[in-house]
Amino acid sequence: MITFVLIPISDGSPKRAHFGELIDHRNSDGSVTRRVVMADGRSLPVLGFGTWQLGNDTTVKRALLHALDAGYRLIDTAHLYGNEAPIGEVLRQRMSTGRLSRADLFVTTKVWSNHHSKARVMKSIRDSLRKLQLDYLDLVLLHYPAGFRDGTDLFPIYRNGSIIPRTWQKDSYLEPWRAMEEAVRLGLVRSIGVSNFNRRQTRKLLSNAKVRPVLNQVESHPYLRQSKLRQYLHKRQVLMQAYAPLRRGDRSLLGDRTLGAIGRRHRKTAAQIALRWQIDRSVAVVVKSSNRARIRSNYNIFDFHLNQTEMRLVNGIRQKARLYGIPGLETHPDYPFNEE
Ligand SMILES: NC(=O)c1ccc[n+]([C@@H]2O[C@H](COP(=O)([O-])OP(=O)(O)OC[C@H]3O[C@@H](n4cnc5c(N)ncnc54)[C@H](OP(=O)(O)O)[C@@H]3O)[C@@H](O)[C@H]2O)c1
Ligand SMILES: *[C@@H]1O[C@H](CO)[C@@H](O)[C@H](O)[C@H]1NC(C)=O
Ligand SMILES: *[C@@H]1O[C@H](CO)[C@@H](O)[C@H](O)[C@H]1NC(C)=O
Ligand SMILES: *[C@@H]1O[C@H](CO)[C@@H](O)[C@H](O)[C@H]1NC(C)=O
Repeated sequence: MITFVLIPISDGSPKRAHFGELIDHRNSDGSVTRRVVMADGRSLPVLGFGTWQLGNDTTVKRALLHALDAGYRLIDTAHLYGNEAPIGEVLRQRMSTGRLSRADLFVTTKVWSNHHSKARVMKSIRDSLRKLQLDYLDLVLLHYPAGFRDGTDLFPIYRNGSIIPRTWQKDSYLEPWRAMEEAVRLGLVRSIGVSNFNRRQTRKLLSNAKVRPVLNQVESHPYLRQSKLRQYLHKRQVLMQAYAPLRRGDRSLLGDRTLGAIGRRHRKTAAQIALRWQIDRSVAVVVKSSNRARIRSNYNIFDFHLNQTEMRLVNGIRQKARLYGIPGLETHPDYPFNEE
């Protein structure tokens, strides 16, 4: 069980935390991590470190060490990213020297779409545990609602370039979800969630799940706010977690005039405003950088917040197209991006 040190907000007595509340978790080294409470009563660091495309094992390890030094305690990886082994090595090393405690760390991994049959979900989770050198995972996400043909091919395609689905039946993610629930019962996983699900798919899952998804990780940044999805998720106590919060380092976002103007008032960069804005609307975030200075500055957002006027300004920024998709997925029965 994770234990929380609740910092009393007003009356001096710690109270029971509820969904969406920000709490301060005191780490064993004395540092404090800002966490957000999930519907299952557990909490996760509200700002996490993303690890996709960090390069080879050496560059992955270097970036992760910088991130741990900067204070990140949530590590976001996936079977798809192919970096669980070097991440596991770093975590093992830090924990064996006593510099990092397992209870303070929050590791998320994801089950990719070529592992959607029940047996293969379990295999994927056990493989992740072995590579990460952990005996439990804090959070496992079903990476996409769309299941692909089972096999070693990560992106199986027909000759015309369309993705080969596992089945042509709609809403086939209910089957892998049963296996995710089983992994919780077996104690391999603490919490389970989803990624890239739209509202309809989330609703379908919620009405069929025995163990509810704690969060939905989706692309979101000031140019793709996902307001409808966020509102729906939070009403159902499913946390939204933003990926690509800087739109993958998009130059126009990093140079955005509105974000820049708000940043100047707080002595923060546009990137820091984009990250803090998510937290101030109760959205958790995973951000990536390979650069030590940027890793640190992205984490340096806990000494200020946006007021209502500033929130409204960001909420008025003109929206752009979604960045992330999978080529050839449009013909899949569980393609998620036809609707928000
Ligand atoms: N569930 C999913 O389907 C899914 C999909 C995509 C991503 N994700 C997760 O979300 C994480 C974050 O998303 P992402 O990596 O795509 O995009 P991101 O975090 O929005 O942006 C990362 C890019 O922005 C640059 N950058 C970072 N901080 C910066 C700063 N302060 N100023 C200027 N540039 C900066 C980085 O370059 P430098 O390295 O040079 O700093 C990197 O190229 C991923 O790593 C992954 O863990 C999940
Ligand atoms: C890893 O990538 C870095 C940066 O691209 C490069 O300098 C280094 O030689 C690579 N190391 C290995 C072992 O391939
Ligand atoms: C590609 O082929 C598959 C299988 O025949 C078909 O279902 C799919 O619709 C085709 N894709 C396109 C874009 O026509
Ligand atoms: C919000 O903050 C800005 C400066 O940071 C200030 O100009 C504005 O008056 C504040 N608005 C409210 C409603 O407090």
